[in-house]
Amino acid sequence: MTIFEEMERYAEATGAPILRAAERPVFLAVLREAAPRRILDIGTAIGYSALLAVAHGAPEATAVTLEHDGRMADTAARFIARSPYAGRVELLRGDAGEILPHLSPGFDFVFIDAAKGQYPDYWDKVRPLLRERAVVVADNVLFRGLVQGDAFVEHRYRTMVYRLREYLALTALDQAFTTEIFEAGDGLAVSWRNRRP
Ligand SMILES: C[S@@+](CC[C@H](N)C(=O)[O-])C[C@H]1O[C@@H](n2cnc3c(N)ncnc32)[C@H](O)[C@@H]1O
Repeated sequence: MTIFEEMERYAEATGAPILRAAERPVFLAVLREAAPRRILDIGTAIGYSALLAVAHGAPEATAVTLEHDGRMADTAARFIARSPYAGRVELLRGDAGEILPHLSPGFDFVFIDAAKGQYPDYWDKVRPLLRERAVVVADNVLFRGLVQGDAFVEHRYRTMVYRLREYLALTALDQAFTTEIFEAGDGLAVSWRNRRP
């Protein structure tokens, strides 16, 4: 069994959140095209997306992954240590919004998958960290179909939905990026900066 199959089984058994099966083809297609060397993964959970990105990035790809939940980070650390990519994934514990301004720039692939209400803040903080050619993938941007259209949004989801709409507006209006929205799973936004022709 590969480390990924093991993590998928673990997630199924425990309910730990990992990239949905329906979203994996888009995620892998972006990685194939971008072939990133330096990856930033915001929202580690058990480390699935960080390891998947390193496994499908450039041959020497490395990743920095951010997680604020101590127990989740402990589980991720164990999976990462047992994986074939152990030396290539750095797990940073703490609030992503606080860590981001302290990272060295030079990322060419970023996966945003942490606090949905913070996506506009992540965008502002990630942007200066990007290489000239880079891609930013954000998960859950269509959040249960509530982000686009005029469906009634329950009070408890309202701020999150407004912030996800703001994220989509920020990426769409940013002249340096071309953004595509994929409806797979909970919705993925893929924002290319200087995409290869
Ligand atoms: C959907 S899961 C990430 C799944 C992971 N990207 C994957 O596909 O394998 C979201 C994770 O983000 C973490 N998270 C939420 N808010 C955060 C924050 N402000 N800073 C750091 N991590 C955060 C949660 O604890 C959770 O583990």
